[in-house]
Amino acid sequence: MLVLGVTGGIACYKAVELVRLLVKDGFVVQVIMTRGAMEFVTPLTFQTLSGMPVATETFNLTQESEIGHINLADSADLFVIAPATANVIGKIAAGIADDLLTTVLMATKAPVLIAPAMNIHMYENPILQENVRKLRRLGYHFIEPAEGYLACGYEGKGRLPEPEKILEETRRLLKKKDLVGEKLLITAGPNREPLDPVRYLSNRSSGKMGYALARAAIRRGAEVALISGPTELEPPAGARLTSVTTAAEMRHAVLEQFSGCTAVIMAAAVSDYRPVDFARKKIKRGKGPIELRLEPNPDILKEISARKNGKMLVGFAAETGELVANATKKLKDKNLDMIVANNVSEAGAGFDLDTNVATILDRGGTVRSLPLMSKDELAEQILDHLLVLKSQR
Ligand code: C5P
Repeated sequence: MLVLGVTGGIACYKAVELVRLLVKDGFVVQVIMTRGAMEFVTPLTFQTLSGMPVATETFNLTQESEIGHINLADSADLFVIAPATANVIGKIAAGIADDLLTTVLMATKAPVLIAPAMNIHMYENPILQENVRKLRRLGYHFIEPAEGYLACGYEGKGRLPEPEKILEETRRLLKKKDLVGEKLLITAGPNREPLDPVRYLSNRSSGKMGYALARAAIRRGAEVALISGPTELEPPAGARLTSVTTAAEMRHAVLEQFSGCTAVIMAAAVSDYRPVDFARKKIKRGKGPIELRLEPNPDILKEISARKNGKMLVGFAAETGELVANATKKLKDKNLDMIVANNVSEAGAGFDLDTNVATILDRGGTVRSLPLMSKDELAEQILDHLLVLKSQR
């Protein structure tokens, strides 16, 4: 069971959407509201969406006999406080338990995820910041507020993160932690190879597969360094992100971070070629055709596989034909442990989609064709396969 504490800020309306998402995701959600929260949204709204009576009062005899504050504290697998006001954070940090939410929190052994939402000046207040540091030190989890327009009229940090993001953090805290101790280096996205100050050569990679892998690995307890080409995606919470543009920059970042990791997953669509010349000034329009000369970029994966030193290496192969034959060749050529191949000309597979149809091949000769699935699900499958390979060593 998940206990959601809702405290009194205007972002309460987003907690309503959060409950809807949590229930849809299969969570049993028990909502506790503070008095302040009830000034914004009625308990009936949360009760209707969660299908459970909302707990509000410590000293209400019916609630205490039916729900019970110690019972709530004991049966929670996870506490989420969203939105969390400066007031509730201050009370938790000071050990004050003067209402139902803070009393139950005092009595629980479950992990607690706090999503602060408040005016930017309140958020920046050193007292609040010190309370956050103290709670983090004591093992409370925080999800950073988002930046943007605040209901009080200010712009800045203090918005409650989108409910999807809170849901993702929630899943991460509850998921099996089978990748603890692993340090994954994951590359994602396309490269851009500049031609002149305003033009570049690139490919259609969106970065979605690599980012899904990063999110899944973090959820499962790994440390993740994500080296990403230009994408439109939100950086996964908890990943160490290095942003790069060209294949040469990606190579540099990979080589720099390679020694510290236990496995490398090269999900990036690295540019195979770059223009031989970079025109310092914008290439002018002319009448006739012009010629571009391209030279090969270094093969990053091949280069690191030469000094593999016990690390697991996973490559990707985007193919438009002879999938298994081409992927097998790459697996051997690049001395990989595993390769994830997909036929990018197939419906539902490949670039810029949320789904993929992939075949996993490994150094032991296994060929596993997977059905159409979300990139999030495929990420889990890839990590599962990686763990199996590791256990066979
Ligand atoms: O040979 P091909 O480019 O199809 O190999 C794809 C795999 O190799 C991907 O995992 C990709 O990230 C990686 N790669 C690389 N360096 C390159 C080109 C591809 O590491 N220059």
